[in-house]
Amino acid sequence: MGNELLEGMNKRMNNTEVKDLSRHAGEEVTVSGWVETVRVHGKVAFVVVRDGTGLLQCVLVRKAVGEEIWELGTTGLTQESTVAVTGVVKPDERAPGGNELGVTGLTLLSAAEEYPIQPKEHGVEFLMDHRHLWLRSSMQRATLRVRSEIMQAVTDFFYNDGFTRVDTPILTGSIGESAGELFSTDYFGETAYLAQTGQLYVEAGCPAFRKVYCFGPTFRAEKSKTRRHLTEFWMVEPEVAFADSDDNMRLQERFVTYLVERALERCGEELKVLERDTGLLEGIATPFPRMSYTEAVEVLTAEGQEIEWGRDLGATDETILAGLHERPVLIYNYPKEAKAFYMKENPDDPRTVLCNDMLAPEGYGEIIGGSQREDDLTRLLERIREENLPEEAYAWYLDLRRYGSFVHSGFGLGIERMVAWITGRPHLREVIPFPRLMNRLSP
Ligand code: 4AD
Ligand code: MG
Repeated sequence: MGNELLEGMNKRMNNTEVKDLSRHAGEEVTVSGWVETVRVHGKVAFVVVRDGTGLLQCVLVRKAVGEEIWELGTTGLTQESTVAVTGVVKPDERAPGGNELGVTGLTLLSAAEEYPIQPKEHGVEFLMDHRHLWLRSSMQRATLRVRSEIMQAVTDFFYNDGFTRVDTPILTGSIGESAGELFSTDYFGETAYLAQTGQLYVEAGCPAFRKVYCFGPTFRAEKSKTRRHLTEFWMVEPEVAFADSDDNMRLQERFVTYLVERALERCGEELKVLERDTGLLEGIATPFPRMSYTEAVEVLTAEGQEIEWGRDLGATDETILAGLHERPVLIYNYPKEAKAFYMKENPDDPRTVLCNDMLAPEGYGEIIGGSQREDDLTRLLERIREENLPEEAYAWYLDLRRYGSFVHSGFGLGIERMVAWITGRPHLREVIPFPRLMNRLSP
């Protein structure tokens, strides 16, 4: 692109955004964006432009714009070409966004080659291969707008609640959750693992700040190809000093209710585009129903599921349990062998640990895993040995029990599962801009 054109483009970029047009009724403005569709009806043409803040129908009247602009507007604008359109803003209730533009000027900033995504049905693999372009489609835009709102709501919730954000490393030396699902890489002759969780590190933040959280991407070499598993996903993990498992569940209820309310309050348009039936979401309020793991096994057995006490719950079990309620359900105190080494033994039933999962309604599965942490040095060391974890890698973690141990609890919420539930998208691959799956590293 020539320097002159680029300069001109920069000037024009400092122009009006479609979302603000209602403030400019009757004025002449310039909008830049990408061409979605062009329709010609005799001597009038309609060019729909997307500028990233909304859609704008630009109306070209042959007589008014003159031959040059008419020619460009009706034959020169391929789908996704970049344009700057000047015109007068006319409020029109039927138009998307509530305004039309009566065109007076049109500049082609970049002509697009034939666009691979056409307004017709494409297969999912094709769309995933073109994810970098698919992001522009209306359903994808709506989904990712909700995601962005949820990300913001997460940080607002913890900020307003007096939490300090503690950023935890992605390259780590200790296994956070389970040895079977680790990505490892050479680290100057040592082995580094991509973090499965920030939890162990964020626990170290408690004696410094009392209430802390970390929020970032986490990695699991999940060999399962399900709609609920990504190999890279975002997790927010609060950790609270002097909070037990009960306090932990209460925080989870408050947090999830807040996120749902925020989405309903601020993403109404997006949820409409997604045709999300928000009936159940509107009913989300604390408290959530609770059930112990042992009770859950009884319920599942009565429902005809084959489950032996001690085994972790599977996807079908979770769907059955969640289906009994219209709110998320908290299943607590799982058997020790089904859960991670750091969870605190239940003094009332040492076969179990003080933990809980939160299962979302409508079949979206486990959205939260949390627990009270083992705060007894000897017991924690025993658990590390029982699980055959490399003791040296946990020396620093054990220090947290050596120097002022304390009751504490925390949890992790998977952002994609939360957003999938809120938006009603069936597969996690659509709720993150560039999903990483077992069979997908590109784009
Ligand atoms: O239950 P998980 O494994 O818990 C932890 O990692 C704890 N360290 C959290 C803590 O106590 N601080 O994972 C927490 C949540 C799950 O409930 C789920 O929502 C999400 O992370 N998650 C995944 N999301 C997408 N793809 C995957 N492969 C996921 N694995 C877990
Ligand atoms: Mg879990």
